[in-house]
Amino acid sequence: MSIKNARVAVITGASSGIGAATARALVAEGYQVALLARRADRIEALAAELGEGALAVQADVTDRDSLLAAAQQIARELGPADVLVNNAGIMLLGPFSSDQREDYRRMIESNLLGTITTTEVFLDQLKDGGGDIVNISSVAGRTARAGNGVYAATKWGLNGWSESLRQEVLPDVRVTLIEPGVVDTELPGHITHDATRDAVQQMYDVARVSPAEVAEIIAFVLARPRHLVINEVLLRPADQLG
Ligand SMILES: NC(=O)c1ccc[n+]([C@@H]2O[C@H](COP(=O)([O-])OP(=O)(O)OC[C@H]3O[C@@H](n4cnc5c(N)ncnc54)[C@H](OP(=O)(O)O)[C@@H]3O)[C@@H](O)[C@H]2O)c1
Repeated sequence: MSIKNARVAVITGASSGIGAATARALVAEGYQVALLARRADRIEALAAELGEGALAVQADVTDRDSLLAAAQQIARELGPADVLVNNAGIMLLGPFSSDQREDYRRMIESNLLGTITTTEVFLDQLKDGGGDIVNISSVAGRTARAGNGVYAATKWGLNGWSESLRQEVLPDVRVTLIEPGVVDTELPGHITHDATRDAVQQMYDVARVSPAEVAEIIAFVLARPRHLVINEVLLRPADQLG
């Protein structure tokens, strides 16, 4: 059921980490939230926790038909989207090798093409009445290091596309790029290269920045008056230098 006059925020990758925390933060600010992810059990549990105005919609950002169905369902049940948080992503790090070629395809399809497709599907709804797009990039969208080449390529690509989009859709839609360093989430758990996963997991085991702290920044960005746009936010844990 929709809540009258509440802005509608669509959050991809809402089943864990930064996406789930963003949903909690935006509900606290009075938003209705559409929670998109592949793991239906996770988003349904979160929707039940968040209560009225939270809608779980199973969708895969690599499957345009599922996004089209989600867009229709959201418009019908909550109203047209005012905010799109493009957060869904995977980080399959490892040495560059043919063994990892499937990881490369998945990262490009999810992080880059998935974000572009989700935006293309929701853009008409966002343009109708003053919208916001928040693209979750990474420090890896500005730096590259051995072992993260294709992940970094998806985030560098996202940064370039996002900057172009920002110029095209203003003033109807504001576009903000968020570039976090290490945040305590399950992101490294999906790495398929065992030695890399173990090494990266050790770094994440002592991660100090929480998803809730990133979500607070996203809520702050969205709460600015319409004449002010925060174009970009780069944030790192205090002990992360590069
Ligand atoms: N944690 C960090 O240190 C960090 C730093 C910089 C940037 N980021 C970025 O932050 C974003 C969120 O990551 P996180 O750290 O919160 O990790 P996470 O807890 O693993 O969350 C990733 C989310 O993306 C969703 N997802 C992945 N592939 C998807 C697909 N094809 N379709 C729909 N949803 C998909 C996952 O849901 P399902 O599996 O249920 O579909 C999950 O909800 C990512 O873009 C990541 O690159 C994270």
